[in-house]
Amino acid sequence: MKATVRAHPNIALVKYWGKRDEALILPHQSSLSLTLAPIHVTTTVEFGAPSDTVELHGHAARGSERDRVLRLLDAVRVQAGRDLGPAKVVSRGDFPMAAGLASSAAGFAALAVAGRAAAGLPQDTRASSILARRGSGSACRSVQGGFCEWMRGEREDGEDSYAVQRFDAGHWADLRMVVAILDRGEKEVKSRDGMKNTVETSPYYPAWVKDAEAEVPRARELIAKKDLEALGELCERNAWRMHSTSLAADPPLCYLNSATLGLIQHLREQRKKGVPVWFTLDAGPNPVLLTDAAHEVAAEALARACGAVDVVRCVPGGDATLLTEHLF
Ligand code: PMV
Repeated sequence: MKATVRAHPNIALVKYWGKRDEALILPHQSSLSLTLAPIHVTTTVEFGAPSDTVELHGHAARGSERDRVLRLLDAVRVQAGRDLGPAKVVSRGDFPMAAGLASSAAGFAALAVAGRAAAGLPQDTRASSILARRGSGSACRSVQGGFCEWMRGEREDGEDSYAVQRFDAGHWADLRMVVAILDRGEKEVKSRDGMKNTVETSPYYPAWVKDAEAEVPRARELIAKKDLEALGELCERNAWRMHSTSLAADPPLCYLNSATLGLIQHLREQRKKGVPVWFTLDAGPNPVLLTDAAHEVAAEALARACGAVDVVRCVPGGDATLLTEHLF
């Protein structure tokens, strides 16, 4: 009745931005990401505890944060088809939370896989991806490593909306993602609120959906060919389009700050000098730089020169995995 799982975050190369179903977390469009190592979240779940308790990153979770964790475990109880009793959850990550890095993705992926294992359910990446999605959309892409594609699906019950691995972490071992932490603060508008506002008010939103859906198979082809330059261009274009549709919302939503723009500008100059480095940007000010192993040190140096207070160098990460050592 106890299981512990380690999962990695992921960074979307083609972003998910906007839900067609808020309760089930069903997206309007498909997305594609890379799982990132070595950063990770470890989560232990135990059923049959004296009462429901949720500890996230050293603090007792409250309110909606706690509810999201317990709701996911309720879904595990339904899958198990038996009374598992109250649950104790402890989760710890080793990277800055809520700063534009998808910490919730790793957290909910670990929770889904650990929850099913603690309930005695067999390992099943599709079932775990669907469960993780219900905690946080992007989490469905962290159940497996490498390059994962979240297929939007058509069904109203969401059973066809989950992520599948297109290429494993070893397919492009030379690829590097360098997270440039320009601002450690919590983001002002959570992605869940930002995307809702964008869906409801941005006149550009329908164009975003159509474009992003079409970019997924193109990104897949470029990853197959390991074409860094074309993938870098696609990532930048997709990030700009996500941020443009948000900028056009009412009230406008701007996740970039002046340091973000400064770094982006600098990347352009570096590329003219032959340094292969591109950016992507989630719902926060901290760009993630896409480059190769030969240039990751240069990418870190230019991030620091542009004001990064911290830099996390990442390689393609593996699947969410069960550990034998528990957090309690
Ligand atoms: O799953 P959420 O609620 O953390 O939303 C993630 C949204 C982006 O990070 C901006 C894009 C993505 O696909 O990960």
